Amino acid sequence: MSTVNKSILQVLAGHQQKVPPVWMMRQAGRYLPEYRAIREKVPRFLDLCFNPELAAEVTLQPIRRFGFDAAILFSDILVIPHALGQKVEFAAGEGPRLDPIDTPQALTRLSGKMDLEALAPVYETVKRVRAALPADTTLLGFCGAPWTVATYMIAGRGTPDQAPARIFAYRWPEAFATLIDQLVEVSAGYLVRQLRAGADAVQIFDTWAGVLAPEEFAKWCIAPARRIVELVRAEISDAKIIGFPRGIGASAKIYAREVPVDAVGLDWMIDKNFARDEVQSLKPVQGNLDPLALLAGGDALDRGVDSVLAAFAAKPLIFNLGHGILPETPIAHVEQMLKRVRGG
Ligand code: CP3
Repeated sequence: MSTVNKSILQVLAGHQQKVPPVWMMRQAGRYLPEYRAIREKVPRFLDLCFNPELAAEVTLQPIRRFGFDAAILFSDILVIPHALGQKVEFAAGEGPRLDPIDTPQALTRLSGKMDLEALAPVYETVKRVRAALPADTTLLGFCGAPWTVATYMIAGRGTPDQAPARIFAYRWPEAFATLIDQLVEVSAGYLVRQLRAGADAVQIFDTWAGVLAPEEFAKWCIAPARRIVELVRAEISDAKIIGFPRGIGASAKIYAREVPVDAVGLDWMIDKNFARDEVQSLKPVQGNLDPLALLAGGDALDRGVDSVLAAFAAKPLIFNLGHGILPETPIAHVEQMLKRVRGG
């Protein structure tokens, strides 16, 4: 792994770049016609995730089209429950559907120990992408944070506030802790294997961190994220890790202080002055253009980009969206955003 020309690794090491490096969450996906063309040929989404040739191709598509500074492995956070033996499907236009785990008894249906080699096609994708990627483009691996993955495992789907998992954790805290511990363990092993296969850095997506009460947030988000980072660094001492705890507002300061990640991903809702003074003062940040400003385009998009740069570009920043790009986003708006960030 060479840091030399990779601007994202420079930022993760704490070095501000004159032009912030840029990539987008969900940059490989349905807003791209070339993604939709491949997706049409593979009816089951997970078959695409586990096909190294096609998954590598899809990972590279946004790099070819836009020249982003990072590629993110094409896969999904729900390959982990799948590998644990839970049934996972993606219904077209409806999102994920899993067999819900609604009682502690149902948890015992999962495999106790997961064979991380079951995810070998994912590591093969990482290898192929690394070989095909320009030397100065960073390759990011990822996993879902245990809390976010658990919300889907328990509810069996996305819900507006992930109430089923929150109720489960209140009713059966010990059973829930067992599930979180299991997810910590497998997620760390999974990230280590991605890094060994050629990922330069990894991101932990905690999309649903923002729905928890503070005590629950400390138990189910902060502590597990810290343990994952520690377990990964026990194997790879200089592993570079980005944490993305969405929707947590002022608790981003606690996350930055207590989770030893190299950078914190910010969503679009956070107060930018607060984030600059209380989060970016502690470590590099990534973010945080509103995906709807990107979708809207025009002046709103330019103003949105300018506002992110004004708040964060004087210190180490990776420019990104505050959450994933939406499928309806026009490609011309992505080009406009890149031009604005890069000053071309
Ligand atoms: O481009 C990339 O960012 C890399 C690939 C990637 C996907 N999902 C592909 C995908 C990554 C990093 C993810 C992460 C992921 N998956 C998260 C965390 C980040 C986030 O966006 O909140 C979550 C919560 C999931 C679970 C998931 N997968 C949901 C809720 C959905 C349905 C909603 C949707 O956007 O369609 C998916 C499906 C999914 N994952 C798609 C893609 C490209 C669309 C499926 C399709 O092509 O039919």
